[in-house]
Amino acid sequence: MSLRLGDTAPDFTAETTEGPISFHDWIGDGWAVLFSHPKDFTPVCTTELGEVARLKPEFAKRGCQVIGLSVDPADSHKQWAGDIAETQGHALNFPLIADADRKVSDLYDMIHPNANDTLTVRSVFVIDGNKKVRLILTYPASTGRNFEEILRAIDSLQLTDNHKVATPVNWKHGDDVIIVPALSDDEAKQRFPDGWKTLKPYLRVVPQPK
Ligand code: BEZ
Repeated sequence: MSLRLGDTAPDFTAETTEGPISFHDWIGDGWAVLFSHPKDFTPVCTTELGEVARLKPEFAKRGCQVIGLSVDPADSHKQWAGDIAETQGHALNFPLIADADRKVSDLYDMIHPNANDTLTVRSVFVIDGNKKVRLILTYPASTGRNFEEILRAIDSLQLTDNHKVATPVNWKHGDDVIIVPALSDDEAKQRFPDGWKTLKPYLRVVPQPK
């Protein structure tokens, strides 16, 4: 059965471009993004991995590590890394899992046979400090992902873990947020003493808590 939000991210051991890892140990107490790409030496994947390398400091600011995966072997990943640095201007600075035996791909349901029998689709799993799966995305091979969106979603997850708020459409860090409907007005007064704007009883807008 495929993974669902709130499930514990399955643990595994694997070979990577940075040596063998045990996934839960590698995550440690922080957050992690595990993402698959279909194949080494392919154009869209090359751009994606360069972009994740560029954004790595932004993931780190959020206490989040990044790790990629494809069903190619580690030697191939390492050879391809030169092309990524050369063409994208950002060298690989995070591990890529070599999943030639598809152990991890199967564990995370990253191969969708009706899309492609053998290659991984573009899966993304955001995993929190308790090793719970908090967000899942699946893109086809032909569509590169927007990793700024994944950072935005992590901002929302981390904010809403700590405050009784939800984030509205197109929200980004610093924008107003929504008081969760489960919080009564009396409870909201305790948490948001400076007040909020009521557009509807269920739609109460408040500045983002610090
Ligand atoms: C790519 O990364 O460009 C790609 C990979 C597999 C199929 C199609 C495109």
